Amino acid sequence: MPVMPHSVQDLLARRVPGYSLEQPFYTDQSIFELDLENIHYKEWLFAIPACEIPKAGDYVIYEVGAYSVVIVRGNDQVVRAFHNSCRHRGSVLCKTKKGRNPRLVCPYHQWTYDLDGKLLWARDMGPDFDNSKFGLSPVHCRVIHGLVYICLAENAPDIEPFAKAAEQYLAPHDLENSKVAFESTIIEKANWKLVWENNRECYHCGGNHPSLCRTFPEDARAIGSTSDGVVASVLDDHVARCEAVGAPSAYQMADSGEWRLVRVPLLGEAESYTLDTKAAVSLPNSSIPFKNAGSLLKFHYPSTWNHFLSDHALVFRVTPISPMETEVVTKWLVHKDAVEGRDYDLKRLTEVWLATNAEDKEVVENNQRGIATPAYKVGPYSEIHEAGVAQFGNWYAKTLSDRLTETRLIAAE
Ligand code: FES
Ligand SMILES: [Fe+2]
Repeated sequence: MPVMPHSVQDLLARRVPGYSLEQPFYTDQSIFELDLENIHYKEWLFAIPACEIPKAGDYVIYEVGAYSVVIVRGNDQVVRAFHNSCRHRGSVLCKTKKGRNPRLVCPYHQWTYDLDGKLLWARDMGPDFDNSKFGLSPVHCRVIHGLVYICLAENAPDIEPFAKAAEQYLAPHDLENSKVAFESTIIEKANWKLVWENNRECYHCGGNHPSLCRTFPEDARAIGSTSDGVVASVLDDHVARCEAVGAPSAYQMADSGEWRLVRVPLLGEAESYTLDTKAAVSLPNSSIPFKNAGSLLKFHYPSTWNHFLSDHALVFRVTPISPMETEVVTKWLVHKDAVEGRDYDLKRLTEVWLATNAEDKEVVENNQRGIATPAYKVGPYSEIHEAGVAQFGNWYAKTLSDRLTETRLIAAE
């Protein structure tokens, strides 16, 4: 029986903070659609690193729910986003996932658009036809220190507070002068919220991530993810050491809980996410003057978490596909002049997170399968290890509830 919006409000109202969500939040088609409508179609979403489209005419398609968005770099070097639907009779404009074109030409009747979305040419539309009325429909697009965010809403929420903070924290990382050394796309057979819940705790790390645990601290206090705000001195010391060289690092979270930034230490003297704990890239894409700068952890719900290290960066993108399927894309960014085989070994660069992603897929899919059984009951989070999961649940429940209330108020007007 599908869950209707008013009963979603009831389910949200009876939610017990500190406990996992009730089963329909992870399995139900109508809640999945409400998530898309109220969260993914309304919030800013990380789409791609801008360095993936370095030249004019380079484009990438990002599909979210029913939408298809083309992200393209113009002749003026500005990155823009448009709905991938022709203004003539609606055909998709770009059929392939990525490419480079001097103009965007519709495959159906060849209406031709400039890279800034203006309609340049439409054959035999008569003397009164006004090209200027049929430019591509824009999608909000904001490049934040080399990370391209889009928003599908008509009126986008204010991204400037996040942009301002992220630009400061990311300043030591030269993402514009980076390149994608490797990317992986996996489909996890699990609801998008389970992918996030798993990301927001390391309670599972010791039992599942042997290679990540060589460098990443399991202790929630070492990464600032605690319910009481008490952190380990190793975190305070690390923040002070990085800030002393001009790398903003202190824990900062949005009032809404939608995003967080903090530069955390890796274990011991570890430099990067490698099996031998040493840097993976000899030509770094950060200006931090020491290798053991830990990892700048950034998350921005509902679409991305990232790690920015002294030698390279990792960007992750989470996209819901269906109630029980989520796409996770991971990209390894290295300095654009770093040469594989000379400055980095691709296996060494990628093996820890390829293994970690595969291990996460396994645990998240097991979580989904167990939740889908009729016997599932909501369960309690560990206050010591799972404050981040509780924080995600609170953000999700409040965001969805507020948007449903807004929609109801608008409908009642
Ligand atoms: S639908 Fe694009 S040119 Fe006709
Ligand atoms: Fe994990």
